[in-house]
Amino acid sequence: MVSQRLQAVPPSDTVAISNLVSEMKASGIDDIISFSLGEPDFTTPGNVIDAAVDSLHKGFTHYTPSMGLPELRKDIADSTRAKNGIPCGPQNVLVTPTKQAIFMWALAYLDPGDEVLIPDPAWVSYEAVVLLAGAKPVYVPTYFNEGYVIDPERVRAAITPKTKAIIINSPSNPTGAVQPEDTLKAIAEICVEKDIIVLADEIYEHIIYSGKHVSLASLPGMWERTYTVSGLSKTYAMTGWRIGWLIADDIKSINKLQTHSITCCTSFVQQAAIEAIEGPQEARDAMVKEFKKRRDLALDLLSEIKDLECNKPDGAFYLFPRLDKDVDSNTVAKKLLQEGHVAVTPGRAFGPCGEGSFRMSYAASEDDITEGIARMRKVLNSL
Ligand SMILES: Cc1ncc(COP(=O)(O)O)c(C=O)c1O
Repeated sequence: MVSQRLQAVPPSDTVAISNLVSEMKASGIDDIISFSLGEPDFTTPGNVIDAAVDSLHKGFTHYTPSMGLPELRKDIADSTRAKNGIPCGPQNVLVTPTKQAIFMWALAYLDPGDEVLIPDPAWVSYEAVVLLAGAKPVYVPTYFNEGYVIDPERVRAAITPKTKAIIINSPSNPTGAVQPEDTLKAIAEICVEKDIIVLADEIYEHIIYSGKHVSLASLPGMWERTYTVSGLSKTYAMTGWRIGWLIADDIKSINKLQTHSITCCTSFVQQAAIEAIEGPQEARDAMVKEFKKRRDLALDLLSEIKDLECNKPDGAFYLFPRLDKDVDSNTVAKKLLQEGHVAVTPGRAFGPCGEGSFRMSYAASEDDITEGIARMRKVLNSL
């Protein structure tokens, strides 16, 4: 009964691990330390919560314009223009949950037979949305010993007459890599030369410790061909609020999909988003500082594990250590969970180049990081 479109999407390797976590919890094991979460462990700043509650009490509980509240669209455009150098105005902003933005982008711009380049390893949902749109994901390898920086020549080599788009995610989930400006400029030149459109996923743009976040849409010739997505989930610990945005020269086609699917983003959440952007930024800055401290702590502790190597990522809140042993990443993740009661995500879930690694989110307390890595050390030494 299931559509061929959905059948084309392979089951996620992450599901096996989360099923195992559930089974273990159901059997009474309650000391599992999770490094598998893709979200900040902080609570949304109080001023943002207050804005949502106020808005509800004032009866702001109805549909909004499908593209979003005018004040919010202006805030997003102004801050993106100022910080990212993207030449956008409010008319270029569509307010929508980030994942929904990516899904609608794929439905709006991909046709069956189109090829989409995805640097590998990559966030798990890119492959799925490309397949759901009937197009073909084409992985472009990136490597541990190159810090997972994309090699533009490998991008060029992967292009065929069917190549329609490339997806660039910087800072990256799962590697935390921030793509250098030179790399992005070289990719931009290739996109202009070969007439390729870009989905630029910049959802971790504020969680950056060193290096510089560069928006592809700010580079010469890129504004007209780049669809930039970002949002509040990671920056303000607002994953459950489901709000983000898409910025592009032409958002009318995607808005057509929005009007026929979710209609608009949740009304009072949009009011809270205005407060998040216009209000004080101390909580956001403190969270990023705390993540940096945890990254350094985790790297320190991981460096004591034999046969394990880890890059020092410039952004996001993930480490992507590589194990120099002849064991596949699903087995490693399973053993860490069953024997050490530590949940990580197997690297293979993020594409072929993820094999041999695992993703570890350090959106966890310092105590959990210390205890969890001590447990990992025991299990990995026994492999
Ligand atoms: C790279 C990347 N893009 C997009 C998203 C989706 O964000 P949201 O949950 O705000 O829709 C995530 C969430 O984990 C992500 O890691």
